Amino acid sequence: MAETQKKQHVEFNRKIRLRKELMEKAGKLTGAFYIPFIGEGDIAVALYSNNSIYGADIDPAMVETARSRLPNANIITADCDQFPFYIEDIEKKATYSLADFDSYSYPYDSFRSFFKGAKLSPQCVLIFTDGQRQAIIRTGHYRTPDGEKHHLKTVTEKREVYNFYYNRIILPWFNEYIKPYEVVYITKYLRSMNQLCWGAVIALPSIESHIEKENENGGIKPYKFDAIKKAKYLEHIGNGQTRGYAATLTGIHRQTVAAHMKADKEFARAVSEAESDAIGKMENALFEAGTSGNVTAQQVYLYNRNPRRWADRRNIRIAGEGGGPVEVEIDAKGKLISLLNRIAARAGEAEGSREPNPTGS
Ligand SMILES: C[S@@+](CC[C@H](N)C(=O)[O-])C[C@H]1O[C@@H](n2cnc3c(N)ncnc32)[C@H](O)[C@@H]1O
Repeated sequence: MAETQKKQHVEFNRKIRLRKELMEKAGKLTGAFYIPFIGEGDIAVALYSNNSIYGADIDPAMVETARSRLPNANIITADCDQFPFYIEDIEKKATYSLADFDSYSYPYDSFRSFFKGAKLSPQCVLIFTDGQRQAIIRTGHYRTPDGEKHHLKTVTEKREVYNFYYNRIILPWFNEYIKPYEVVYITKYLRSMNQLCWGAVIALPSIESHIEKENENGGIKPYKFDAIKKAKYLEHIGNGQTRGYAATLTGIHRQTVAAHMKADKEFARAVSEAESDAIGKMENALFEAGTSGNVTAQQVYLYNRNPRRWADRRNIRIAGEGGGPVEVEIDAKGKLISLLNRIAARAGEAEGSREPNPTGS
């Protein structure tokens, strides 16, 4: 791996796997590929060199290197926050079937500008590298994908947005923004907790999706439980609903959900993560109640967070051998004998006090 690749990419192979997965799900991609933030072109060299590439980077030296590695590509020096290949004449516009926004931190200015200004294929792959979670948890200053700036002041606010960033901010915004396109497949992973790497295959509803055909043959019917319904299902799970009730709320049979979890490991992982999100939400609420002076919440939080230090000494448990119940043996016979002896001794004392004096005195 080149020195620059080490600097620019953490977990390069994982980045490649995410992209391969999305491209495989989409099937044949016939249009051009837009690669903003192309850097020295590592990802493009590894994956996109057989396609028609429109790439750009703000750093001219990077552009120079990328051009030398991808001689057939069209790579320019430009600020990618504005779509640099915009052409007024619709006839001359390239049609894009993939766009890869591998920015350092905020890919959405670039995406919005591309989505408005470019001509897209009926099915398109979109990939994002998003570092907003780091900003959220460290400074509280962050931007939502619509471009709005926000400032979170308290730890509780930061935790809430940090925990639910993908499910509550990214997904609902994306589903709405891309209309009339719809999400056909969506996936994500977190790098070191703070960098969100995600991508989606989107398609116009009229398009018979390759994914549907492929999975129908495999026995499950994704159009019944499509990406939008999956996002809704995950939202219900993230809000603390059980798997069964979340299925009811989404209008899907729970066995359909189970079949999808079995067939789609990524979705199964997303369900587990949403469940963890729900626990995180409860922890936040408990923490908030505790910091607002609720003594019960403080006790529950501390007993569970640091049981060795905060164990409730009133609730000490005694266990028998091997942790089993304590066995109490009562020696009834022994107790009876001891009681009879004591009665006999008393009776003897009383008898003795009534006996005539043998000396006659
Ligand atoms: C994580 S690197 C991208 C690596 C690249 N995807 C590859 O495969 O090698 C981010 C790149 O974004 C570029 N960059 C940062 N801000 C930019 C902007 N506003 N417009 C265009 N490029 C930008 C940097 O110069 C850097 O090369």
